[in-house]
Amino acid sequence: MNHKPIEGFSKLSKQHKIDWLINEYLQGNQEYQKILQQYWNDNPDLQKLHEEFSENTITNFYMPYGIAPNFLIDGKLMALPMAVEESSVVAAASKSAKFWLERGGFKTTIINTEKLGHTHFIFKVEAHKLLHFFNFTLKKKLFEATEDITANMRKRGGGILDIKLIDKTSELADYYQLKASFNTVDSMGANFINSCLEQFGKTLKDEVAQSDAFSEDEKNSIQIVMNILSNFTPDCIVRAEVSCKIDDLKDDSGISNEEFAWKFKQAVTIAEIEPYRATTHNKGVMNGIDAVVIATGNDFRATEACAHAYASKDGKYKSLTHCTTDNGIFRFWIDLPISVGVVGGLTNLHPLVKFSLALLGKPSAQELMSILAVSGLAQNFAALRSLVTTGIQKGHMKMHLFNILNQFGATEEEKQYFVNYFKDKTVSHHEVISELNKLRNK
Ligand code: MEV
Repeated sequence: MNHKPIEGFSKLSKQHKIDWLINEYLQGNQEYQKILQQYWNDNPDLQKLHEEFSENTITNFYMPYGIAPNFLIDGKLMALPMAVEESSVVAAASKSAKFWLERGGFKTTIINTEKLGHTHFIFKVEAHKLLHFFNFTLKKKLFEATEDITANMRKRGGGILDIKLIDKTSELADYYQLKASFNTVDSMGANFINSCLEQFGKTLKDEVAQSDAFSEDEKNSIQIVMNILSNFTPDCIVRAEVSCKIDDLKDDSGISNEEFAWKFKQAVTIAEIEPYRATTHNKGVMNGIDAVVIATGNDFRATEACAHAYASKDGKYKSLTHCTTDNGIFRFWIDLPISVGVVGGLTNLHPLVKFSLALLGKPSAQELMSILAVSGLAQNFAALRSLVTTGIQKGHMKMHLFNILNQFGATEEEKQYFVNYFKDKTVSHHEVISELNKLRNK
């Protein structure tokens, strides 16, 4: 069937949007209206709040919100909020937390907290002339022009740290950047950084126009292409680590401590040299990070993009975590670039985000960086621990089984039957369904 485009969809009321969708794409089937309606919140104010987070909202999409307790982080015991749809992630985090609780917990260090942004521009001019103009005229003007924008941030201890002119003409004809670094204190800082950068773009253009350092042709050639923060923050790094004597690893899977430590280190080294494995390895790390990022109202696309760019910083995609087993000590750590906030954005708006931050003891942005790095490290530890011992499927299969059974509306009794049935067998979708049919036809 050919569908018709629509003008002004965003201006329709919620009900009219739904009516149009059901008629245009769902053959007028009103059952779909019921599905959407089931997820509306009974509290109209809360519903309105959620609708206003985004555009063209017709319902809410729920995600499970779970808790991984027993995280000992820098001596503080914490329960981590995790919003994640994938089964086993919260269980894995909890297991790791418990394991390391008994071995001194997680230690973290903030290495640095610099955020970056760029004004990207094209200018047909000799590089040395531009550099002179930047050093002796422009740089000062850029700081002055953004004084109003930065006033509040400076009061809070942040602001623009530095601005550099970068010559990129060897990669793209006439391409330069103003590369600025920022301290955004407790905010993620996207709005602040972008506002500063947009002002840089205007000031750059105005100052070039007024300058007598350039010819008319040169002046006319300047084009501000864009002003935007970078989600790659290689100078906003937190380290989280765990360590213990190899003798104290005491894995319960039956292999010796030495074999466990050796296999674990091999698994990390494989992810350091093999991008196919590194991708899955880091995906597992991000399972832990994203769940807490979402629960605390931060931007998981930004943290994902940054982590993967960092994983490729040496020209080859590598593991974000590292391990050593020297002198009888097992040491496992992550250096994670991550830019998050605890003020601004959703943090003051979403009731569950407020809950998450309160649960974490109202952390500063730096403390949240630490918690996130720990969550990623813990998740990776749990995944590797399973992978090098029992295999990953053992833990996953019970949840997989329940997901299949839930799809078919299984009762608690039926679920128990299947847990026993698959005790010594591999769960398969086909077998669950055929056995369920037999059971129900009895
Ligand atoms: C699944 O979401 C994540 C894992 O594949 C991670 C890993 O293999 O390290 C279990």
